Amino acid sequence: MNIFILLINFTLIILKFTSAQNDVNEKCIPINQLLNKEPSFDCCTKGGVTCTKDGRITKIDINISYSSPDETEDIIKDKNHYIPSGFGNYTDLTYLNIRGDDIRGSIPPELGNLTNLEYLYIYGDKLVTTIPPELGKLSKLSYMYIHGKGVSGSIPPELGNLSSLQSLFLTRNNLTGSIPSSFGNLSNLKEIVIDQSYLNGKIPPELGNLPKLERIDFSNNTISGHIPKELGKLSKLKNLELDSNDLIGSIPSELGNLANLKTLDLSNNYLVDSIPSELGKLSKLEKLLLSENKLTGSIPPELGDLTNLKSLNLADNNLSGSIPKKIKKMDIKLNVSNNPLLNTGDNDSSLVTIIIIAICIIILIIVITLIYLKTKNKVYNNGNRSKTLPNSSIGSKQTSNCTGR
Ligand SMILES: *[C@@H]1O[C@H](CO)[C@@H](O)[C@H](O)[C@H]1NC(C)=O
Ligand SMILES: *[C@@H]1O[C@H](CO)[C@@H](O)[C@H](O)[C@H]1NC(C)=O
Ligand SMILES: *[C@@H]1O[C@H](CO)[C@@H](O)[C@H](O)[C@H]1NC(C)=O
Ligand SMILES: *[C@@H]1O[C@H](CO)[C@@H](O)[C@H](O)[C@H]1NC(C)=O
Ligand SMILES: *[C@@H]1O[C@H](CO)[C@@H](O)[C@H](O)[C@H]1NC(C)=O
Ligand SMILES: *[C@@H]1O[C@H](CO)[C@@H](O)[C@H](O)[C@H]1NC(C)=O
Ligand SMILES: *[C@@H]1O[C@H](CO)[C@@H](O)[C@H](O)[C@H]1NC(C)=O
Ligand SMILES: *[C@@H]1O[C@H](CO)[C@@H](O)[C@H](O)[C@H]1NC(C)=O
Ligand SMILES: *[C@@H]1O[C@H](CO)[C@@H](O)[C@H](O)[C@H]1NC(C)=O
Repeated sequence: MNIFILLINFTLIILKFTSAQNDVNEKCIPINQLLNKEPSFDCCTKGGVTCTKDGRITKIDINISYSSPDETEDIIKDKNHYIPSGFGNYTDLTYLNIRGDDIRGSIPPELGNLTNLEYLYIYGDKLVTTIPPELGKLSKLSYMYIHGKGVSGSIPPELGNLSSLQSLFLTRNNLTGSIPSSFGNLSNLKEIVIDQSYLNGKIPPELGNLPKLERIDFSNNTISGHIPKELGKLSKLKNLELDSNDLIGSIPSELGNLANLKTLDLSNNYLVDSIPSELGKLSKLEKLLLSENKLTGSIPPELGDLTNLKSLNLADNNLSGSIPKKIKKMDIKLNVSNNPLLNTGDNDSSLVTIIIIAICIIILIIVITLIYLKTKNKVYNNGNRSKTLPNSSIGSKQTSNCTGR
């Protein structure tokens, strides 16, 4: 009996000891859940997880892809990987980067509790999730990137509360709805890329209030309405890419105020009216892409003032008139194809060719006539051949002079 009780006590002690060991890594529980590791694994020993000396986790950088060579021994394959809600307990985190083809499930709203987070990157094409509005609480966040075919729903207006945000990438998702007007409050924003989704609605004019904005890319959505003239206030803007949407109306002449603009891509929309001559003021412009619209009128000669231009695509519109001389002279990639009413100047160049050929023929006739006359003369003055001799003797004198030196 006594021995039996002793045995039970012994087992209990061992159990306690093991659980005590597990307790040591309690902070690792959420990470170990994501990795499908045993609960006792010390996650601080894993590459990509940064812990302080006193055991606080400040940085998580994990790529879960079964194809990843450095991950093969590290994670248990053939199991589902989810971002556990316990990640919201890592309040010391400043950097969170979770990516990989084998992450499933949703983005937990608890991530909104990471009050010290400055950098958030989430990529996973197998995620099936919406963007939690709670992420709008991340007041120190300066960089946000979310990318996944199964990231759907609309963009929460709460993200407009991210007062430290500088870069917002919501790229290649399945998002619908419109771009929230609250984004006009992101006063530190430098770049906003929300491309290749199914966004509709209009571009909020409030974006014109963001003085630090350098890049707007909303390409490949179904955004409709007019291009807000307020965008012309963005004096630092370098890239404006609104191509492949359903934009209507005319190109606002105010865009001519974007003195730092390098790329203007409005192609593949339903834009009408003529190209504003004010675009000729964009002295830093390198790419002007307006193809596949319904633009009419003639090409403004002012575009010939764009000394930094490298590419001008006006194809698939309804432009008329002819290509201004200044533009023809530019050393750029020019595409004006498929503008039925535009005089592309091919006729002009063929005319020039004809004139050049005609001049050549006339010169040829004159030369032939001269040669004919000369040979006739020679026949007459056959006796005076020796006249050429002094020339050759001078030539031989010069050669001897040269060799004499
Ligand atoms: C993750 O790892 C895989 C396999 O090594 C690699 O192909 C992929 O580019 C990585 N993804 C990211 C976002 O770093
Ligand atoms: C977060 O930590 C608290 C206290 O340590 C714990 O009670 C809670 O279960 C944790 N939350 C999650 C979602 O794991
Ligand atoms: C963390 O976030 C969740 C959901 O957003 C919330 O219910 C919970 O109270 C938060 N926990 C803490 C400790 O702030
Ligand atoms: C995208 O969202 C729609 C609903 O809005 C859904 O039917 C479709 O399956 C989603 N696509 C993917 C790849 O998740
Ligand atoms: C965050 O934004 C939402 C919607 O834009 C707003 O209703 C809410 O009051 C804001 N919350 C905070 C804490 O500023
Ligand atoms: C922007 O922030 C101000 C003050 O924080 C708030 O009153 C306003 O509603 C916000 N604008 C939008 C569009 O959310
Ligand atoms: C536009 O987005 C769709 C869906 O994400 C994609 O299939 C297509 O290749 C994209 N087109 C361009 C021109 O990027
Ligand atoms: C001109 O642009 C149109 C529309 O973008 C394109 O389809 C075509 O291939 C381009 N042509 C040349 C010669 O680049
Ligand atoms: C092009 O414009 C002319 C008038 O400027 C109009 O008659 C014609 O229908 C237009 N063609 C297309 C394809 O829009």
